[in-house]
Amino acid sequence: MNIGIDAIAFTTSRYLMPLEELARRRQVDYQKYCIGLGQTEMAVFPPNEDIVTLGIAAAKRAIQFVSDKDSIDLVIFATESSFDVSKSAGIYVHHFLDLSSSCRVFDIKQACYSLTAALQMAKNHVQLYPKARALVIGSDIVHYELDSAAEPTQGGGAVAIVVSANPRIMRIEPFSGLYTTDVMDFWRPVKKDEALVDGKLSTYTYMKSLEICYEQYKQLSGLDSEDLSRVCFHTPFTKMARKANNLFFSEKNIDASLLYNTIIGNSCSASLYIALISLLDNTEEDLSEKRIGLFSYGSGSMAEFFSGTIVAGYRDMLTSDDNKKMLASREHVTWQQYRDFRANKQPVPADDFYTSGDIRLEQIEEDKRIYSIRS
Ligand code: CAA
Repeated sequence: MNIGIDAIAFTTSRYLMPLEELARRRQVDYQKYCIGLGQTEMAVFPPNEDIVTLGIAAAKRAIQFVSDKDSIDLVIFATESSFDVSKSAGIYVHHFLDLSSSCRVFDIKQACYSLTAALQMAKNHVQLYPKARALVIGSDIVHYELDSAAEPTQGGGAVAIVVSANPRIMRIEPFSGLYTTDVMDFWRPVKKDEALVDGKLSTYTYMKSLEICYEQYKQLSGLDSEDLSRVCFHTPFTKMARKANNLFFSEKNIDASLLYNTIIGNSCSASLYIALISLLDNTEEDLSEKRIGLFSYGSGSMAEFFSGTIVAGYRDMLTSDDNKKMLASREHVTWQQYRDFRANKQPVPADDFYTSGDIRLEQIEEDKRIYSIRS
């Protein structure tokens, strides 16, 4: 049975900080950001946007392709920027999408790897229950310490994927190279809003993980680089993906897969799948029946290399024009707004910032988050 991605959509903030401005303020040569890291803009988030509002916006765009919403009996919300260690962010999504109450809903984490874990679990679920559909969502807002080396690699966004039998976009193949090792390269203790990172260790572990996962993938699948049409990577910053590509796949052009991440920044769990959407939206060549390699990395660390083949007719399932319009219509924030967004942890009712979709975080009252639908 073929199982995989039946629908996929993403969203990000309506606001961005140009890295040229960040470089000027931090007195860093802009070339370091745009050439050295391969980033030109980063998504920044007003206080009334969070992983839930982002996740709902992406999910609404993905499930427009599902004729029978009640067939969704599994929702997995993958995030490393959770605000609650008990209640699942997925429950809010389930509520605002008005999904069936007979549905299993939970959150998972393993840094930026978690959406891949969700996707593979959803695939196994559909294998057991072929009529079922699963909705998996990766949603993250990445904050590092202000004025740190990691600051220009902030960003955020959400991807929602509908997993089903006979998928209309990508059939996921059964071979995975996996690598887990205990390493302190990036972590966020519960009491902290900003991730802590050992940057050099993280880039080293990312590359080492790719080497090990790809070798294992080749052994298990009997496939090699020439069997892969393109490869998409977890993209904490696009230079990282380019370095990874050059390790084994230097003959492959990955420009199309990096267009969106260059101007969004790191969206952690969503980042690999934003690369995939960017590839599908921006590749003129028909990718039908082509095999795409996917490398997922989550600090701490867990990594996976796997692949999927693109289904003929996939273009009918894309929202490429909407994606491009959404990115082109984002507003630049001023330096003061950037700092205010970070300082104001709670929205105030007078805030009227746009959110990625029609849901906004209204207020936090007695530690309860109250969301409203923008009329
Ligand atoms: N012009 C052009 N390039 C320049 C330059 C200039 N004027 N000045 C510096 N550069 C280049 C450097 O040569 C370097 O490129 P190479 O690596 O190709 O040599 C690049 O800019 C970065 O400069 P530094 O080596 O000085 O590194 P840094 O101190 O700025 O830190 C970083 C870079 C470690 C990535 C830091 O931004 C960071 O910690 N980011 C967060 C962690 C991260 O994203 N890790 C990625 C792997 S972990 C992961 O994938 C999980 C996750 O999502 C977090």
